[in-house]
Amino acid sequence: MSPPTITPPRTDLAYLCCLNPACRTTLSVDRVAFACPECGDLLDVVYDWDRLPVPKRLSDFQAKWADRLEPLNFSGVWRFRELLPFAPPEQIVTIGEGQTLLQVADKVGQYVGMNPGRLRLQYEGMNPSGSFKDNGMTAAFTHARMVGAKRVACASTGNTSAALAVFCSATSFGFKAIIFIGSGKIAYGKLAQALDHGALTIQIVGDFDDAMHRVRQVADRLGIYLMNSVNPYRLEGQKTIMYRVLEALAWEPPDWIVVPGGNLGNSSAFGKAFIELKHLGLIDRVPRLAVINAAGAQTLEQLVGTHGMSWLDGLPDMKVADSYYMKLDEAGSKASTIASAIEINRPVNLKKCLRALDFCDGVVRQVSDQEIMDAKARVGAGGLGCEPASAASVAGAKRLREEGVIAPSESVVCILTGHQLKDPTATVAYHGTDQDNFEKVLGSRGVRRAGFANRPVIVPNDLDDIIRSIALYSESEG
Ligand code: F0G
Repeated sequence: MSPPTITPPRTDLAYLCCLNPACRTTLSVDRVAFACPECGDLLDVVYDWDRLPVPKRLSDFQAKWADRLEPLNFSGVWRFRELLPFAPPEQIVTIGEGQTLLQVADKVGQYVGMNPGRLRLQYEGMNPSGSFKDNGMTAAFTHARMVGAKRVACASTGNTSAALAVFCSATSFGFKAIIFIGSGKIAYGKLAQALDHGALTIQIVGDFDDAMHRVRQVADRLGIYLMNSVNPYRLEGQKTIMYRVLEALAWEPPDWIVVPGGNLGNSSAFGKAFIELKHLGLIDRVPRLAVINAAGAQTLEQLVGTHGMSWLDGLPDMKVADSYYMKLDEAGSKASTIASAIEINRPVNLKKCLRALDFCDGVVRQVSDQEIMDAKARVGAGGLGCEPASAASVAGAKRLREEGVIAPSESVVCILTGHQLKDPTATVAYHGTDQDNFEKVLGSRGVRRAGFANRPVIVPNDLDDIIRSIALYSESEG
């Protein structure tokens, strides 16, 4: 191993720092870098908190509510700007993201096995592009503007590309969207957004992991600004999801945060949020974190659960991950799940997620496509609808309840990462009456029954028949 790089002390209030404790290279925020130039590791945005004006109490942020005509206070990301202070306020790119909701969901809670009032859903589908990605995009676009970038690119399972396309089309700073998607791998709602918002959409033969690999090469070669969650500014924005959860709970941390895991940006950002809040003395208790993989894309669960990988003070044994990836390649194994948003086998933020798990006493589980689709139907029937990947959080919470890891009296927040309308194909296949379609979309993935299906009633175009079917429905409702 090369000797630790001696880095001069920095005078800037915010800068980038390599995650590797044996390297710790630092870079100014005027630089564009998505990996450490010395060792290739991930980069963190770090702050000189001692010299920054940070509110004494989280409740001080409530003062911003009185001034919502100021766009930075209206934004659910930037009203917490003192906790992500890397940008001059006049450079901030906002489209009003982060107007989200923490909802008590007792019917879903009952399904999960929680006591009344204990399960909440953090609904990130309310963002302008319909997913949590807008939290990260506003921060990354702000940085792109700071460095004068115009062409911005990402690889995506759909939501990142939708958010990127929305930010390019809804702002007037001359941003041009270039997105890379795997062939046949993205849900129609998301593809529709990318196309409608005018993004250059490059569909490559391959899956997300292939697209991610290529977009990094292309961004490097052509000097295009990369908007995936290897971009550390994305994660700064995504920290605010946790601030809004705390805000909705009158600043009292819940016992658990449960989040789906794909590229592991959210879980990494949540961990960083709590590390910083604790460091700043703004919380005294840290929630536990549960990261939920889909069974067809279970890299994190395998590496942590089966292979015992952990943070180890910043020096996790990455050889374990490398040999896992090699085995996947040898077996020609590709990620495959109905939760296409998290159909990812090589999560780029693995290391940061290990840090989050370490700090938040975290657990990792995998859930099957059956569990995901059933949980999604329960969310739809008992709360705000979500796409399959989001329902992994609810399915994961149920699993952890059944195992006794989560107690029924604990306060649990499941993150609903994306809107229901993102993936109508999965929803209609689950509820619909077309058996061939069920087999094609779900049966082929091992989903055997649509236990919570709300079947449409097919009736002749006849008034009496229609009235009879409503009467039958009313009787069955009791
Ligand atoms: N839920 C939804 C709806 C997503 O779109 C994603 C990721 C995740 C969960 C996983 O989040 O990567 O932070 O662990 N979607 C990315 C995309 C990969 O390209 O839209 P993560």
